[in-house]
Amino acid sequence: MTLAPDKTELVRLSGVTKRFGGGLPALDAVSGPILGGEITGLVGPDGAGKTTLIRLMTGLMLPDSGTVEVLGFDTAKNPAAIQASIGYMPQRFGLYEDLSVEENLNLYADLRGLPKDERAATFDELLTFTDLKRFTGRLAGKLSGGMKQKLGLACALLKKPRLLLLDEPGVGVDPISRRELWKMVENLTREGIGVVWSTAYLDEAEACDAVLLLNQGKLLFPANRRK
Ligand SMILES: Nc1ncnc2c1ncn2[C@@H]1O[C@H](COP(=O)(O)OP(=O)(O)OP(=O)(O)O)[C@@H](O)[C@H]1O
Ligand SMILES: [Mg+2]
Repeated sequence: MTLAPDKTELVRLSGVTKRFGGGLPALDAVSGPILGGEITGLVGPDGAGKTTLIRLMTGLMLPDSGTVEVLGFDTAKNPAAIQASIGYMPQRFGLYEDLSVEENLNLYADLRGLPKDERAATFDELLTFTDLKRFTGRLAGKLSGGMKQKLGLACALLKKPRLLLLDEPGVGVDPISRRELWKMVENLTREGIGVVWSTAYLDEAEACDAVLLLNQGKLLFPANRRK
């Protein structure tokens, strides 16, 4: 397969299997690539294994068998190198509701080790990008669902990731904000960033450049490419 120059392979899944206790595995021998410069939809109903696959790509959890390679590193061998270069937005807002928008950004900047002298410019750029400038002092708990996701996105982008993992970013978000959020990540793909957008909604899946369709841990469509 020949790839356009900006569509480098960012993730390689090879026979990825993960079990939690008995019963069906949460992921069952999932293989496939995820490319940069596009939005990959990780699509499936509740319990399909979307969150598990995203957690495996962060290196915060390891597969029972198979390998997950992200940015050329095996998550089992070098998770720190991966974690330094990815952005991750968990399924439920990973925000502190009793802190303001700016305080959340500062907290994540501390966690990600963003130097103090880079913060003002980075926050300014991200607050402009997510259109949250008017709400800098507002408590995160007082934001709408859409604004919470935009703040979550800003926090995930603090260290300019090459791969952005978004776990059901469209849930709890009104249709207009969902569209705005989509446009924002679409702009990121133009810079070559790879975006994984997990969803149970088929309309979101249709808008993706590539789709990984999961059901009960099995990959039903390895790579449903439109272009
Ligand atoms: N920490 C865990 N302990 C036990 N079982 C788990 C754990 N995490 C996930 N599972 C199980 O693994 C399967 C896949 O779950 P996962 O959360 O990855 O699905 P999902 O596609 O993200 O679903 P949802 O749309 O509900 O978020 C489910 O059967 C779930 O119950
Ligand atoms: Mg989930």
